[in-house]
Amino acid sequence: MKAIILLGAPGAGKGTLAEGVKNATAFIHVSTGDMLRAAIKAGSPTGLEAKAFMEKGELVPDEVILRIVGERLAQGRPDDQYMFDGFPRTLEQARRLDDVLAGLGGAVNQVFLLEVPTPVIVSRLSGRRICKGCGAVYHVTNIPSKVEGICDQCGGALYQRPDDSEATVLNRLEVYQRQTASLIDFYERKGVLVRVNAGTNPQAATAELLSKLA
Ligand code: AP5
Ligand code: MG
Repeated sequence: MKAIILLGAPGAGKGTLAEGVKNATAFIHVSTGDMLRAAIKAGSPTGLEAKAFMEKGELVPDEVILRIVGERLAQGRPDDQYMFDGFPRTLEQARRLDDVLAGLGGAVNQVFLLEVPTPVIVSRLSGRRICKGCGAVYHVTNIPSKVEGICDQCGGALYQRPDDSEATVLNRLEVYQRQTASLIDFYERKGVLVRVNAGTNPQAATAELLSKLA
């Protein structure tokens, strides 16, 4: 089992780049944020547990995350290739992921660190719009839909994520520094960290990542 990770601050472009990589490769995209939002929408026990943490921009407890990722991987096949987006986010999650992958005969092959200056990140999150129907991601100025408020792909209505309000964005950035940024060092020591300039447009950033894919 092969696994790569997209690591980066909120708004660095993990979901956007994952779309480009998914279209060009056999990687299966696993976004813990998307899984949690789907659980909230479905009103499942996991969703109820996660909702309050996500609204505040805090991390959902490790056990919840490890459970949903474990369930997802258990459905897979040995030759699957996974691209994790927004996971792992703590050292505990990273260590447990190593154990799970080792048990499946795999390992983390590469970790792509998406580097973007903080002011760019804040403007990306405040301008982000998402399709209610198909989940496509837009940005009011960077990647606008053809008709304002309407998805180009499915005609669905576009909405703003509840955790993209200014106060919550600032907390998410702080939480990233406090709880997730230490993963950069963790993976650098393992020799699997690959830096990508994600401050450019999505096409250039995706092309850079694909050119560095081993
Ligand atoms: P999650 O959904 O993972 O959110 P996040 O990490 O805060 O990251 P985002 O999805 O906000 O940003 P992104 O990097 O995907 O950027 P995007 O491509 O959309 O997590 C949400 C919450 O769930 C967490 O706060 C936590 O509570 C919980 N959670 C999730 N995983 C967890 C875990 N493992 N452990 C504990 N809790 C967890 O791009 C952003 C905007 O910029 C878009 O508008 C896009 O169009 C635009 N854009 C992107 N790239 C470019 C570019 N190159 N140029 C111009 N514009 C761009
Ligand atoms: Mg995302």
